[in-house]
Amino acid sequence: MAFKNFSLFFSIFFLVVSIFVGSTSSNAVEIALPSSFHPTGGHWVLLQPSVGVSAMHMQVMKNNKVIIFDRTDFGPSNLSLPRGNCRHDPNDTALKVDCTAHSLLYDIALNTFRPLTVQTDTWCSSGAVSPNGTLIQTGGYNDGINKLRTFTPCDDDQCDWTELPETLTNKRWYASNHILPDARIIVMGGRYSFTYEFVPKNLINGKRSQQNYFMNFLKETRDLQEENNLYPFLHLLPDGNLFIFANKRSILLDYNTNRVLKEYPVIPGEDKRNYPSTGSSTLLPLVLTGFGNGTRLPDAEVLICGGSPPGAFTMSDKHRVFLQASRSCGRLKLTDPAAKWVMEEMPMPRVISDMLILPDGDIIMINGAMNGTAGWEDATNPAYNPILYKPNEPEPGKRFEVLNPTKIPRMYHSAAVLLPDGRILVGGSNPHTVYNFTAYPFPTELSLEAFYPHYLNPEFSHLRPSVIYMDPKDNIVSYGQMFTVTFSLHVYRPDPGMSVSLIAPSFSTHSYAMNQRMLVLDVPHVEYYYPFSYRITAYGPPSATVAPPGFYMLFIVNRGIPSSAFWVQVK
Ligand SMILES: *[C@@H]1O[C@H](CO)[C@@H](O)[C@H](O)[C@H]1NC(C)=O
Ligand SMILES: *[C@@H]1O[C@H](CO)[C@@H](O)[C@H](O)[C@H]1NC(C)=O
Ligand SMILES: *[C@@H]1O[C@H](CO)[C@@H](O)[C@H](O)[C@H]1NC(C)=O
Ligand SMILES: *[C@@H]1O[C@H](CO)[C@@H](O)[C@H](O)[C@H]1NC(C)=O
Ligand SMILES: *[C@@H]1O[C@H](CO)[C@@H](O)[C@H](O)[C@H]1NC(C)=O
Ligand SMILES: *[C@@H]1O[C@H](CO)[C@@H](O)[C@H](O)[C@H]1NC(C)=O
Repeated sequence: MAFKNFSLFFSIFFLVVSIFVGSTSSNAVEIALPSSFHPTGGHWVLLQPSVGVSAMHMQVMKNNKVIIFDRTDFGPSNLSLPRGNCRHDPNDTALKVDCTAHSLLYDIALNTFRPLTVQTDTWCSSGAVSPNGTLIQTGGYNDGINKLRTFTPCDDDQCDWTELPETLTNKRWYASNHILPDARIIVMGGRYSFTYEFVPKNLINGKRSQQNYFMNFLKETRDLQEENNLYPFLHLLPDGNLFIFANKRSILLDYNTNRVLKEYPVIPGEDKRNYPSTGSSTLLPLVLTGFGNGTRLPDAEVLICGGSPPGAFTMSDKHRVFLQASRSCGRLKLTDPAAKWVMEEMPMPRVISDMLILPDGDIIMINGAMNGTAGWEDATNPAYNPILYKPNEPEPGKRFEVLNPTKIPRMYHSAAVLLPDGRILVGGSNPHTVYNFTAYPFPTELSLEAFYPHYLNPEFSHLRPSVIYMDPKDNIVSYGQMFTVTFSLHVYRPDPGMSVSLIAPSFSTHSYAMNQRMLVLDVPHVEYYYPFSYRITAYGPPSATVAPPGFYMLFIVNRGIPSSAFWVQVK
């Protein structure tokens, strides 16, 4: 009781302090925490029993809203469009006049949503957010296969999808995107497209080039019958080159000269890692601690987990036999000239799982199955338990932890994203060609759930920093320049090892979080400011190759407990 009053006292105190300093620059959303909480294994909350659309694709936007969408060409969804907004598409293969929405905007703070109108087919498409916060969304199927769409976030609930008149030069169905240091977006691969291209298109002598670039690697890594190289994993390295992983192989590409700079060793073992043998991949956090505002580049390491053995797709698709998914993860230090895969075993096999970086630098794998592959009706044995991977734990046997299970299977066409408040938003699951709510055992899932990792346990509230304001007040993080964040903390002394992290929000679909990236910034000092309030100084990332320009979630982490993030613009 005494502690509660103490907290209340300081909360009021900080409110007064923040009014006094005239702070408005924190755009963090604070959420109510569940009262009963498992001490370590995390907590699940059903946010919405049905949003009417199955979440095949998700992107968190800079105004704390999440854009969610499915495909348009398989009949009605369970979310109506506002009157008079029906989509008339003579080319649609299922419904020529469709009065239901296939996309929506979810408000994180209010837990509400509104329908959006996407015009062309976004099935198995890709996306990336441009530096000004507009989502650039590419490709799909049918009438959408070479389309470009944008969504610019707004504060008045009026914004919607825009279809651009220009198109992609190739068909992009199951392609991957990455934002580049010069603000272009690279769009790579897709079914039968062994090329990449840029959005916006290259300017050559002041003219837009229609060019796309052939890439033999995409052709070579395609298995006959099974593919196993779709949605290739792309990660931008700190030197600006692009790491590309497909099937079992990986290369480093200089996309400016269309030159393959090196091929990395083949990942050991038989398992395939890309669609339909869908594993997951992430760059581990890029650590800039101790770098000051020098131009030294951090090391980069990739983690790839799960997938399926060769032949698994044919076995499930043709013979209804669901082979056990891959149990292994590989880590490869991409910046090491003699890079070698280090393999580890997960506590369970996993396929079609989402892999996300948490603000404390740990990695979570969530959603997916333990047998089979991606594809219609091609997986079984849901992986209800997320798993945590602690990349910095020195003892390999202690890196994995099995977390608390959900009750809802999240199979093919489910998705997950990290929210600025530290929760994981989970939605979707529809392994069928239409919405089917009676399909057994995996009905089409329209619900949204949140997973609360252990750090959101209210027991840690006294360790959780709460951001008051940032300086500069426009929340801009400039390359190599210092900035400060003032925050409150209900303990006497912050941990001297506190960190400031930036996380780029990912475009998540098909178990791949495109553009996901975490930077642990250099923190020269933390100072006492007011009673129970502190000021932390950090250096912005050194360059656009380390952190492409755009909006990032900024977290302050004290003894492993992150604040709610607020949005900053890196430029
Ligand atoms: C979807 O809509 C159908 C038809 O109105 C209804 O029967 C079903 O319960 C709804 N399902 C969900 C999950 O919203
Ligand atoms: C339908 O497809 C045809 C042929 O591809 C195209 O010319 C036409 O513009 C499309 N119509 C719509 C409404 O998308
Ligand atoms: C943001 O950038 C995109 C892509 O470059 C552009 O299409 C859009 O018009 C820009 N939006 C604003 C509001 O400036
Ligand atoms: C999953 O794979 C294991 C190992 O091959 C097998 O024993 C089990 O029967 C499979 N489960 C299902 C539900 O197919
Ligand atoms: C939905 O699933 C049930 C059970 O698997 C099946 O009998 C039915 O044909 C499916 N409906 C559609 C429209 O595919
Ligand atoms: C490095 O930081 C110091 C202190 O903020 C600043 O004076 C200096 O201009 C910075 N150097 C570069 C290269 O940005």
